[in-house]
Amino acid sequence: MTVNAEQINNPVLKVAREHDLIVDQLGELERVLVRSGPAAALPLMSQALPGFAEAMRQHFFFEERIFYPALATTIPTAGIIERILLLQKEHGLMEERLRLLTQLIQAPCPSAEAFVALVHHELLDLVNLVKRHAVVEITDIFPRINQNPLCLKMVLDLAQRETNKAEKKATPEA
Ligand SMILES: [Fe+2]
Ligand SMILES: [Fe+2]
Repeated sequence: MTVNAEQINNPVLKVAREHDLIVDQLGELERVLVRSGPAAALPLMSQALPGFAEAMRQHFFFEERIFYPALATTIPTAGIIERILLLQKEHGLMEERLRLLTQLIQAPCPSAEAFVALVHHELLDLVNLVKRHAVVEITDIFPRINQNPLCLKMVLDLAQRETNKAEKKATPEA
């Protein structure tokens, strides 16, 4: 399968693919935990969760600073605004669940069984939340952006503006 230039340059496709990566990574942690227990899962989770949290933060940042404002500006209906507010709230919830999970794996646990049950429950909750959230974005939000040339143009403009800001920040003042 080949990827054409439009796909590479289309931020909507790029961000949509990130959903699969997020779900896959969480699913992999869950499989290791259930199959191999805490001895194998703990170090893996301690190592993976900080990078994972950062990837999630960047994903949410892109949506909140680029996709959602573009959509709210170009299709400012009550329904769209309501959906965007709910999605933003869910971003906060997912970050909070991830923080809790990180704290949980650092806390002393009375037994391996209790650890597996507790962490497994948290991981599954987070996976389900991510999946439900991603379905709304992939089936409703992203198609609206892709099908609206004005919205897509605004997405590209805002993305460029964020890139310029980041480059300016990275360049030391003369
Ligand atoms: Fe989102
Ligand atoms: Fe998303």
